[in-house]
Amino acid sequence: MALFAVPNIIQDLIPAAASESINPWTWNLNLNASGLYEYLPTMHALSKFALLGACAVQSVMGLPEPVESREANLLKRNVDDWINRETPIAWQKLLCNIGPDGCAVRNQGVPAGVVVASPSRSDPDYFYTWTRDAALVYKGLADAFRRNYTEGLHTQLKNFVSSQAKLQGVGNPAGGLNDGQGLGEPKFMVDLKEFTGEWGRPQRDGPPLRAIALIRYAKWLVENGHKAVWPTIENDLKYSAQYWNQTGFDLWEEVPGSSFFTIASTHRALVEGAQLGAVLGKPTRAYTAVAPQVLCFQQSFWNAREGFVVSNINGGEWRRGRDANSILASIHNFDPSAGCDANTFQPCSDRALSNHKVVVDSFRSIYNINRGIAQNKAVAVGRYSEDIFYNGNPWFLATFAAAEQLYDALLVWKAQGSIAITQTSLPFFRDHVSGATVGTHAAGSATYNQIVSAITAYADGFIEVASKYAHSNGAMNEQIDRNTGQPIAAPDLTWSYSAFLTATARRDGYIPTGWGAGQATALPAGQCQKFEVAGNYNLPPTPVFPSNLTPAANAPVEQITAVPTGCTNPEKVFVTFNERASTSWGQVIKVVGNVPELGSWDVNKAVPLSASKYTSGDPLWSITLPIQAGSSVQYKYIRITNGVAGVSWEGGDNRAFSVPGATCDVQNRWDNWR
Ligand code: NOJ
Ligand code: NOJ
Repeated sequence: MALFAVPNIIQDLIPAAASESINPWTWNLNLNASGLYEYLPTMHALSKFALLGACAVQSVMGLPEPVESREANLLKRNVDDWINRETPIAWQKLLCNIGPDGCAVRNQGVPAGVVVASPSRSDPDYFYTWTRDAALVYKGLADAFRRNYTEGLHTQLKNFVSSQAKLQGVGNPAGGLNDGQGLGEPKFMVDLKEFTGEWGRPQRDGPPLRAIALIRYAKWLVENGHKAVWPTIENDLKYSAQYWNQTGFDLWEEVPGSSFFTIASTHRALVEGAQLGAVLGKPTRAYTAVAPQVLCFQQSFWNAREGFVVSNINGGEWRRGRDANSILASIHNFDPSAGCDANTFQPCSDRALSNHKVVVDSFRSIYNINRGIAQNKAVAVGRYSEDIFYNGNPWFLATFAAAEQLYDALLVWKAQGSIAITQTSLPFFRDHVSGATVGTHAAGSATYNQIVSAITAYADGFIEVASKYAHSNGAMNEQIDRNTGQPIAAPDLTWSYSAFLTATARRDGYIPTGWGAGQATALPAGQCQKFEVAGNYNLPPTPVFPSNLTPAANAPVEQITAVPTGCTNPEKVFVTFNERASTSWGQVIKVVGNVPELGSWDVNKAVPLSASKYTSGDPLWSITLPIQAGSSVQYKYIRITNGVAGVSWEGGDNRAFSVPGATCDVQNRWDNWR
């Protein structure tokens, strides 16, 4: 367990690091000697050498340095220095919040692999585990692990898999695992018991985000010749395919409605999940059928006239919609295989860049600490301008996200050897290069060069802002006081450290392996269909890992590349049950029938229909589910009030139909309650 001994050594170093006089070189040396190097894929010593060298040469030769490049060099050096100091601290502090041994949570009943949001137990009490925070943190850990294998990180990942397999079975106020609804519960006690207080639930980003994090690790397993951890992933994917079109609370846990971040995360999970499932020989048709429809819906958040993503619709309209929600969606769905695709809001897409400007600008005048900062310079970024939580402040994680999107864009531009500017992205570019014009600017052209240096400096500026407001010992909270710049609320927020580490990894040029975005940018022809596929959910068995799980010495055993498209397993015919039934609040319509897919007449196994298309003018309940080709089906709808105790059956004879032979066409049943 040498890994966990390391943080103490760093702890001793932290006060020293705060002092200006400390020599950063000895600092790095100490770190290396301590063994923490294992966790630090890239040190910045070399780049710093190179930079100092360049400055020295210039002054020796007496060449006048243009003011802008002097400013840029200084900025780069400051940011390099802070990142050098902050990186080991962020790693240490992030791991401190993970059970059972993390230094801030040990001996406090936190099981292995459970991420505590912040050690703070009051004002605010964040001593809980949120599915979203945990998944985003572990997504970062899995990507770091894929970049650089360490046994310590591997243990963490296995712990995460085990903890989440267990957590999926914990009944809670959002529901149980039976129909999947319990997966939408946003937070739990740190010992994995349910949290019974009032809360904004469900939050439907948790399951897809967790699937994404688990898939990252599962792909590594497959590539190294081991079978993946599928059952836990599968529950989350089924949830995503079933509930994506139902409203829920946004990632800030405040507004019920449809949230851009949730929808974008769902799209990615379904695409990447289908890719993994195909390699493992699992059924994936529900995911491949639903994913393009999710992407289709995602387009409706785009406000073309004003060039930004309206982050909350179908309920969140009291806010203006400019929200770091959309920047987080963009960075967490980054995949260079999709280039600068606008449908998936890739970080370098014209839409995402325009959105970056609109969102960042919405924070320029409202926070005192941002006053007087020029339009082409970075500022502190919050969640959304109407925020009143702790009076509404900038957040570390949102400020890092603004940097990360730009680093992502720079990576793709450099790989493509060009930058495309459209009418949509022109205002973003004009802030930084006043002479920028619409068109494609090839590497080597003056405009290309100006943009790359300006955006590099702009991105670094966001890191510099965060560095300015972090505690001098490197600790970060959740927020930055809008007036004083003091770090406030939730000290040592795990997500803040994770956001720092992912942003700076991109700055280092590290691109995580893709999720198949390049094969998943096409929109379905015609209108979007709100296709919701019922899943059957199972408690995952306790995960068992082979004893000798180390990276394969040779080429990967199985390569994961293609995302399945079209219709696989046509012997499972997709049938949509549409039932018009007026219901009152709290009632649910379910379908039950003679075939196993319809619960074999067991009311406890009846399949719930979705009310997402229900309006007062058209009380439509519907659900799609696969049924074996050729089945003779008998079924009826039931109305449930307050659990299965209050079942009422439709009148009349059983309804009946025959499922055709294998086909890819969805069969529709249109019924009215009787
Ligand atoms: C209220 C805040 O506005 C919300 O964003 C937060 O998640 C909860 N309190 C929990 O701290
Ligand atoms: C409040 C944030 O709004 C939410 O996104 C987060 O999950 C919790 N705090 C815990 O960090």
